Amino acid sequence: VPPSFDELRAEQARVQAGKFQGRLLSGYNGDIFPGHTFKEGCAVADFMRPYAAGDTVSLETVLDGMSERAGRQIHWVDMQAGRSLAQRQYMLDPARRERVAATAVDLFDYGLEGLDEEEIAFVKEVANGPKPNVIIADAQEVVLDRPGDVITCEEGIQYLDDPLRAIANWYNQLAAAGFLFISRGGDWASMVGYDFSSIPYGLREDQSPIADMLDELAAAGVPFEATKTSDWASGHRPLLNPGEFRSLVIQKVPGTQMMVNTTPSFINSSYSDHKNPLYRMADPGDPTPPVQIMRTPS
Ligand SMILES: C[S@@+](CC[C@H](N)C(=O)[O-])C[C@H]1O[C@@H](n2cnc3c(N)ncnc32)[C@H](O)[C@@H]1O
Repeated sequence: VPPSFDELRAEQARVQAGKFQGRLLSGYNGDIFPGHTFKEGCAVADFMRPYAAGDTVSLETVLDGMSERAGRQIHWVDMQAGRSLAQRQYMLDPARRERVAATAVDLFDYGLEGLDEEEIAFVKEVANGPKPNVIIADAQEVVLDRPGDVITCEEGIQYLDDPLRAIANWYNQLAAAGFLFISRGGDWASMVGYDFSSIPYGLREDQSPIADMLDELAAAGVPFEATKTSDWASGHRPLLNPGEFRSLVIQKVPGTQMMVNTTPSFINSSYSDHKNPLYRMADPGDPTPPVQIMRTPS
């Protein structure tokens, strides 16, 4: 039985008391585009290059480029936004504030509460910047008032009981050709597994729900890219292990929805209160994939 909203808030009030919810744009960029700080490339950065304004690929230049190209205000939704400092930092620029509307989704509206003096001094300018529209909700089931052209989730996915449900919820609320970014400082994909005890035999140990989701995206023609580490200084790009990476971007194909056909059978909590949800596998012979891209009737 999934926890109630109040139970979730009680749990995360405890867990988040020891965490940092104040990343700035540099923190987001370092995890979405690994290597970016050191001018090294990565697959996710290359994937986004055509959409960025100018030569540098970053969340800012992607938002700038997308709003320029769209010729209208675009909507950036930050899931599990914490103190939403990245959005406030972006919106310090009045021109950007005109072109991008920001929505922050979290269980709490933290403000600056709990930061010590040094931290407040560090983030002061940004923290005094314009506040996004805040939605207090469970990101796994939040319903947005309008679709997101860009949806980000930075350092949050590891706190969710049902990350597949969250990813589908976010994909389904992307605007046509919009982008969903899910990132953290370390690998998150391999924290999501299958419940080995739920089928009697036949499970390959390298099977993973996230790798299966990527297979489905590829089969359905939904563009995506993932990165575990930056390219090497030599330019070599390490092969992607589809069950182990830290940054994922998915582009919405208009007229499609993501459906999840499995639920976690139990959730381990690791050190740091990161969760390891284990999903039920389909019975051997059942062809239903765990994650499915469906065409919506037009
Ligand atoms: C480590 S913080 C990251 C915040 C911000 N993205 C950053 O990088 O600074 C994780 C955030 O996830 C939020 N969170 C955890 N579970 C959530 C849920 N089910 N729905 C919405 N937010 C959640 C926490 O309240 C916290 O603000």
